[in-house]
Amino acid sequence: MTDPLRDLLRTAADRLLEVAAADDLDEARLEVELLYGRAANLDRVHVLAAGGDPPTPEAIEPFEALLERRLAHEPLAYILGEREFYGLTFQVGEGALVPRPETETLVGAGLAAIREHPRSHRLVRVADIGTGSGIVALSVARHAPAVKMFAVDASTAALQWAGKNMRRLGPIERVVLLAGDLLEPLTEPLDVVLANLPYVPTDEYETLPDEIRAHEPEVAVDGGDDGLDIYRRFAEQLPAHVANDTYAVLIEIGAGQALFAEDILLNALGRPATAEVRTHRDLRDIRRVVEVRVGY
Ligand SMILES: C[S@@+](CC[C@H](N)C(=O)[O-])C[C@H]1O[C@@H](n2cnc3c(N)ncnc32)[C@H](O)[C@@H]1O
Repeated sequence: MTDPLRDLLRTAADRLLEVAAADDLDEARLEVELLYGRAANLDRVHVLAAGGDPPTPEAIEPFEALLERRLAHEPLAYILGEREFYGLTFQVGEGALVPRPETETLVGAGLAAIREHPRSHRLVRVADIGTGSGIVALSVARHAPAVKMFAVDASTAALQWAGKNMRRLGPIERVVLLAGDLLEPLTEPLDVVLANLPYVPTDEYETLPDEIRAHEPEVAVDGGDDGLDIYRRFAEQLPAHVANDTYAVLIEIGAGQALFAEDILLNALGRPATAEVRTHRDLRDIRRVVEVRVGY
């Protein structure tokens, strides 16, 4: 006995594995189920429940078209036009980095820095530098009602995605999107500065899979010789933008960069006597976020 839809999806999953668009069969199956669901306008539970039925005739052609894009290594999030992050669904596409789960570490640590800030009984002024599709700024602003959020990116394409997400998810009255270089567009003193800027060293960038290099913006990933060039410039700009005496700076980094990043931040900030450094590990146990708190 055959299961027509299940057979179609199994063959599609095998094709994804053949071109190494998925790492293992579980991932390949999940991807084809989501692609078929998009083509047939069904959620994944209903795709699984319909496994023994024939595929919906009108869905076959659109499914093949979506599958071809994935076989050509276009990121799944771009094909579906969305990605879950911190419990919210963000719209994403060409021009904005696909949200990565490890960036949830930056959001969690940022929320704690806001909650524990001595000014937290008043409005805390927060910046998200390199906002991309807005995932950090909007997740933080939705979970911390007493913040004013400034979200900056140098890429107008990325800011368009951030704008779409802000209009859909809000809170639009407490988030300001700004175009420009790092902290330059900001005029208000900042209590908490968050940044997920490019940190992949250039020679490592050259070895990344096609899925990243051919589709995601280079300006969102390549961080120069040792990966920390942009963070050096960011750190130089910090003293002119952080509030007097009491503030926190949190940056997302790659594996093995924590001690260098800590040094860059502390040197630029003049090694304040009250500085306290923390590192936050992601779910893979990698030191993913370096935080410097001053005057807490
Ligand atoms: C690693 S991506 C992070 C995007 C988003 N925050 C996220 O976590 O998905 C880095 C972002 O920094 C932006 N960027 C790179 N250089 C910049 C600069 N000099 N000034 C402002 N933004 C910059 C890129 O356009 C990109 O959107």
